[in-house]
Amino acid sequence: MADLSINFAGIKSPNPFWLASAPPTNSGYQVMKAFDAGWGGAVWKTLGVPIMNVSSRYGAVNYRDTRIAGLNNIELITDRPLKDNLKEIEEVKKYFPHHAVIASLMVESRAEWHQIVQDVQNAGADGIELNFGCPHGMCERGMGSAVGQEPEILKLIVGWVMEVAKIPVIVKLTPNIGDITEPAMAAVEGGGNAISLINTIKSIVSLDLDSFAPNPVVDGRGTNGGYCGPAVKPIALHMTRECAQTPGMNLPISGIGGIESWRDAAEFILLGASSVQVCTAVMHYGFGIVREMISGLDRYMDEKGFATINDMVGKALPNVGEWKTLNLKHKVVANINADKCVGCQLCYIACDDGAHQAIGLPTDGSRVPHIIDENCVGCNLCSLVCPVEDCITMEKRDDGTQHVTWEQLTHEDKIPTTFDDPRAGGAHHYVPSVQDALKFRK
Ligand SMILES: Cc1cc2nc3c(=O)[nH]c(=O)nc-3n(C[C@H](O)[C@H](O)[C@H](O)COP(=O)(O)O)c2cc1C
Ligand code: SF4
Ligand code: SF4
Repeated sequence: MADLSINFAGIKSPNPFWLASAPPTNSGYQVMKAFDAGWGGAVWKTLGVPIMNVSSRYGAVNYRDTRIAGLNNIELITDRPLKDNLKEIEEVKKYFPHHAVIASLMVESRAEWHQIVQDVQNAGADGIELNFGCPHGMCERGMGSAVGQEPEILKLIVGWVMEVAKIPVIVKLTPNIGDITEPAMAAVEGGGNAISLINTIKSIVSLDLDSFAPNPVVDGRGTNGGYCGPAVKPIALHMTRECAQTPGMNLPISGIGGIESWRDAAEFILLGASSVQVCTAVMHYGFGIVREMISGLDRYMDEKGFATINDMVGKALPNVGEWKTLNLKHKVVANINADKCVGCQLCYIACDDGAHQAIGLPTDGSRVPHIIDENCVGCNLCSLVCPVEDCITMEKRDDGTQHVTWEQLTHEDKIPTTFDDPRAGGAHHYVPSVQDALKFRK
């Protein structure tokens, strides 16, 4: 059995699964229940200045049969009194001394930062997370993502916090920025102990077509919200990897965004995260999902021979690089398994209308299409569209002996410079004639 315990920038936790700062960490009651269910840590719902909330607060993207493929919220930081939260942090730590309780904070002035950092330290928090990510409401008041989008301000405020912090400080980043590595490096320069990402993405999830207002509608009006849940995972994974690969960004990373299974968590860890945080999946399914996350990750680590989480962190990073480092000689072609095919012909339509006209229809009355090998560029589209698992697979066609990259060709001055150049990529690809389109006219 693998050792799932972590020491994240000095914050110890029995496993890498933490609740993200959000409604599931709004109270001691919830955090206690979560720890009993198996969560290793909890980042408390952000504490800070007094606020007022609106109703309603959430909108969702329900994609076909999937409820909450993406979640949007316009809620602010905690609306509970600071003294109640501090008292509950203290109580939870008494019951769970070996679990991680991290206080998320958001205030404005240097004096306020000093005060609140000391308050949560006195309450017994194991760490602090600085919320520089909230992209609605709080940013209009100069906090949240307004700080995360200004690396110099972020660095200044991290510096204020470090003046009094005696426990590890995690800087939570906003994805609402062109280059996530800029605030990440500002966190390093400010003296932070770790970073976490991502907070929510500025979004309008949908419009109410009757009231002409964005959802969630608040008395006939709306605003942009923060987007999260499964839909944002690809963006969060990419940003995690970008931070992990940035030279000089040597801080531990807590990965957040769309995590709902052990597989999602494993992906973040392999791309450089050493703890993960979950919000939407818990709001959707409850604390119990952590049991499958723990057992699944444990099994996977045993299977791959990872004794500790640290052994696993960043293991995918050597395989991720810029486009120019990919092997141009690698060649795959689609293959249809006729025994599995149900004859829906979605692959034909996708390839003919949306790709490279490399799938032919049968003329013998059957419905199983065929791949026209010489036209297939190996784009993958048909295999993604096919509703039958493993019916269309991509087959390797190069012999594996050649490895040439755009980077190499550039160094050797061998890149095509005109479209007539025989080395130019699309020069020999088949495309039907313009008139061929006329045969579809009714
Ligand atoms: C309703 C709601 C409230 C949130 N409140 C906070 C907050 O107070 N502080 C914070 O740092 N992040 C807050 N978040 C962002 C989450 O902590 C997390 O970064 C984001 O939801 C992405 O994770 P997920 O895809 O697992 O939901 C909130 C998210 C939601 C949905
Ligand atoms: S999409 Fe898949 S199942 Fe449908 S015709 Fe193509 S190969 Fe067959
Ligand atoms: S891989 Fe792309 S080009 Fe090849 S058959 Fe499928 S959709 Fe067409």
